[in-house]
Amino acid sequence: MDKKTLIEHLNHDLEGEMGAVIHYTLYAKTVKGPYYEDVAEMFDKLAMVEFEHMKELADQIVLLGGTPSTTPRPMKLLRRLDELVKYNLEQEEIAIEDYKKRIKEAEQLGEVGVRLMIEHIIAEEYQHFLSFKRLLGK
Ligand SMILES: [Fe+2]
Ligand SMILES: [Fe+2]
Repeated sequence: MDKKTLIEHLNHDLEGEMGAVIHYTLYAKTVKGPYYEDVAEMFDKLAMVEFEHMKELADQIVLLGGTPSTTPRPMKLLRRLDELVKYNLEQEEIAIEDYKKRIKEAEQLGEVGVRLMIEHIIAEEYQHFLSFKRLLGK
């Protein structure tokens, strides 16, 4: 593990956050069915949190001497609420696993700032994971 690899991995995370911002924002606009206003509001709020994650990651990449990626990770824009929530639950789980690895990598390199930022992000991803679980009635 070297700094260059950590920057590459953080860019992978940044692309995921950008994908989440776009996806959650658009879903708030396309959701249909009962309680659509509440669900749209929830997705708008989630998008704002992911936007903060995006900015925090970009800051750390720049601080490490890297260049932030501008390519969002493609995500499916599903229309059925149950399918979409299940898909997003999986995506949040993937993000949590990636961030757990990133904490270890930052630790190895003695990058305390990166570790602290990721710890903050992971706590919020876990909240998202729990929200989607509840929406699925689990
Ligand atoms: Fe996030
Ligand atoms: Fe999230």
